[in-house]
Amino acid sequence: MDRFVINGGKKLFGRVNICGAKNSVLPLIAASVLNEGVTRIRNCPKIRDVYIMAKIIERLGGKYTFSGDTLDLYTEGVSTWVLPEDLTGEIRASVFITGALISRFGYAETAKPGGCNIGNRPLDIHINALKSLNVTVSEGETIAFSGANAKSGKVVLRFPSVGATENVMMAAVRLNGTTTIENCAEEPEIIDLQNYLNLLGAKVVGAGTRTIIVEGVNKLYRGEIEFTPRSDRIEAGTFLLCGACAGGEIEINGLNIEESLSLCKIIRRNACKIYRKDDKMYTVKYYPRAKGFGRVIAEPYPGFPTDLQPQLTAAACLAEGLTVTEDRVFPSRFSYAEELAKMGADLRVLENVCVVSGKRLSGATVSAGDLRGGAALCLAALGAEGKTTILNVSHIDRGYEGFEVKLKSLGADIQRIVT
Ligand code: EPZ
Repeated sequence: MDRFVINGGKKLFGRVNICGAKNSVLPLIAASVLNEGVTRIRNCPKIRDVYIMAKIIERLGGKYTFSGDTLDLYTEGVSTWVLPEDLTGEIRASVFITGALISRFGYAETAKPGGCNIGNRPLDIHINALKSLNVTVSEGETIAFSGANAKSGKVVLRFPSVGATENVMMAAVRLNGTTTIENCAEEPEIIDLQNYLNLLGAKVVGAGTRTIIVEGVNKLYRGEIEFTPRSDRIEAGTFLLCGACAGGEIEINGLNIEESLSLCKIIRRNACKIYRKDDKMYTVKYYPRAKGFGRVIAEPYPGFPTDLQPQLTAAACLAEGLTVTEDRVFPSRFSYAEELAKMGADLRVLENVCVVSGKRLSGATVSAGDLRGGAALCLAALGAEGKTTILNVSHIDRGYEGFEVKLKSLGADIQRIVT
């Protein structure tokens, strides 16, 4: 597994371009199964998770090509509804494909999905949502779904699960009648999925709010669909927090302020000034040292995103003062904390809360355990004195295209050591 070597203390200057959103593209790949034609995804990030999902489509009988930033998915040939166990074990988003398979074939079968090690990730919300549509679910070695008698109806999610919201949207698009999904997730990436489904001839409204309504249609369009996903608010937020750790002045091309309000409010108070150049380009000027961020609670959108909780905690380790981060989405998403402690960070994890007292950090050898925790270690290393070696950076490659290339272009002293 490759590693990064970072020599901290270099301020960041220059422009970073944000890619298309990983958490839009993965459900879009799942939804492409509904199109017995070609789905062309523009501005698609070259990251491991995209390749894994595209390979699953290939194993289902489809094909894909990925050139430049365009991913073409040929899904007419999809001919099985059994997801390949070796690949579903690598990625949580594979479970999103079951809803599309149920719509296309009436059936779906999957092993338990894998994915980032960020705590317990049951499937009960997905399963109960599909059962509300009269999908029968049998759980054994695999989970088998039968939509032979599926019908539209009312779905109420016990928690606004992003994946379950997207999964049941895809399962409902061809069910006669009206399906309402209540207490659904409001993440912006779900709006991309809704827009793609409607390009296919589906009738979905309400994405981005707590209630989504799907009017079933008899059949969907078959042919070539082109879609450009929104920019990745988590990548943008990660780079905003890189500056809070390293200092300097950067331009972010592809920051959607409205989708990043919760983070921008926090860092504007304690770490930087943000100046608008146009609706996607912002200049960020950092104070010499961030101040403690106070209490930050990660919760469903529009709250502060759990996918930025590790990165903010890392910035807090370097800030002057106190920060308390709490994660109400993934309560045990703090495995990176012990790695930060190896760099001298003063932080204590109590259940789903992390109390941080900022101080100077020193380089060390640390190990990435998951995507965002790995990114957090890079951020801490940018602001630490001396050399940090980060092992297992393939976790970071899951969700960031050329993370070290972008950091190096901003002036960071970072090398990838291929092992
Ligand atoms: C999506 O994962 C994202 N992944 C995650 O991003 C993100 O952290 C998460 O939403 C929350 O915003 C993609 O979109 C591909 P959830 P998902 O279902 O759908 C519990 C990243 O770093 N839950 O909203 O899997 C679950 O355990 C990744 O980019 C159940 O209990 O997340 C968690 O505590 C990581 N039963 C909470 O709900 C279920 O059936 C939210 O999970 C489903 C979820």
